[in-house]
Amino acid sequence: MSSAPTASPTALAVLEQRLLAQPARWLVTGSAGFIGSHLVENLLRLGQTVIGLDNFATGYRRNIDEVQSLLTAEQWQAHRFIEADICDPDACREACSGVDYVLHQAALGSVPRSLANPQATNAANIDGFLNMLVAAREAGVKRFVYAASSSTYGDHQALPKVEDTIGRPLSPYAVTKLVNELYAEVFGRCYGFPSVGLRYFNVFGARQDPEGAYAAVIPRWTRALLLGEPVTINGDGETSRDFCFVNNAVQANLLAATSDDPAAVNQVYNVAVDDRTTLNRLFEILRDALVDIRPEVRQVQAEYGEFRAGDVRHSQADVGKARRLLGYRPSHSLQAGGATRYRRGYKLRCRGMCPVSQSREAARNASGRYLLAAASGRHAPLRAVGLGCGGDRDGGGGGKAWRDGSGRCRTPGDAHRGAELRAR
Ligand SMILES: NC(=O)c1ccc[n+]([C@@H]2O[C@H](COP(=O)([O-])OP(=O)(O)OC[C@H]3O[C@@H](n4cnc5c(N)ncnc54)[C@H](O)[C@@H]3O)[C@@H](O)[C@H]2O)c1
Repeated sequence: MSSAPTASPTALAVLEQRLLAQPARWLVTGSAGFIGSHLVENLLRLGQTVIGLDNFATGYRRNIDEVQSLLTAEQWQAHRFIEADICDPDACREACSGVDYVLHQAALGSVPRSLANPQATNAANIDGFLNMLVAAREAGVKRFVYAASSSTYGDHQALPKVEDTIGRPLSPYAVTKLVNELYAEVFGRCYGFPSVGLRYFNVFGARQDPEGAYAAVIPRWTRALLLGEPVTINGDGETSRDFCFVNNAVQANLLAATSDDPAAVNQVYNVAVDDRTTLNRLFEILRDALVDIRPEVRQVQAEYGEFRAGDVRHSQADVGKARRLLGYRPSHSLQAGGATRYRRGYKLRCRGMCPVSQSREAARNASGRYLLAAASGRHAPLRAVGLGCGGDRDGGGGGKAWRDGSGRCRTPGDAHRGAELRAR
């Protein structure tokens, strides 16, 4: 497995300055979802005008509310939200009107969901995608960046995955993401329409939904560990993934939308880290990160179940193409992502406790802070722990200590089983 990436955000830093100087108008579909809400947040911070669109199929109003709470009133004024379904062509047309860049994230994710209901996945991911493509073309947008997927590599065994070599799809979901690429390519060829596809590999981060049968592995296991519920590994645990922190995905979107290099357009790119972590190792990482918060997890052993239908065995991306053509530099590996970037956005409170000060202990425990954040679903039966963020952009700050009902000073390490946890 390769080593952790080095941070070199030069192209992004240059771009951020450019955007601040020359604000543009962006449409983010799927803006109430995990990745979409991060795109909206980052764009508004950069002084852009942002239209968000979502039908709340799998996204949440609380994600939009949280983004608002992290921004200034002035930044938030540049945001407008449209509640609409991309299966409605008129709604897509209205949303695209006057827009410079489209970041199309709206889709039904999850391989198992697509196996259970291929029509629903097809409708959102293919019909909806085509509606967006047509509307964006009619509106004359400068670029259409869309969420593609590593699932497109299908049954092709070679590692790391290189964009030009794909296998046969292993699920209806993978079919839809492949069809997206084909449509985008054909629109480029037939109409000269400028698009970029970003093949995300297992993106993770705050606001990722831990609930339900189709939750991604990191928030799902984190939630289970915190609640004392069993953690089930599908298969033997040697299945591996290239886990990609959400900031890397945001970076790729901004670079892809604004690249001036004609060779960079009408392409697809891997968006990942070029690293590989097995599920067994991931379980250890999550467990270790949670020990401070819930010491009992030290003893927890994972259970092993059947391999999951439609899952690929190994996944690791070659990100050389995005590096070369977009200037993409993944800034966080799995562990760095877990350890540094979850301060923003989540203020977790113990019932009856209020934050009183910044805590070094909480800062050391930043990984757990994320994990709590990830586990903090709307209905999570846990509530609490003052692992709040200072609201700074990319680190610094720290979690908070707080006083409990009797006035005793508590720290995140005091959090224990039975405490309830939720996003604020
Ligand atoms: N998270 C990952 O690891 C990952 C990996 C590969 C690809 N992707 C793709 O990235 C995109 C974003 O994924 P995410 O993880 O943020 O998922 P998410 O479920 O959190 O976000 C998707 C959003 O799209 C919205 N949506 C779904 N159908 C819609 C419709 N018909 N009309 C309007 N809005 C609709 C949902 O309500 C949700 O808010 C998706 O296209 C997904 O397929 C994600």
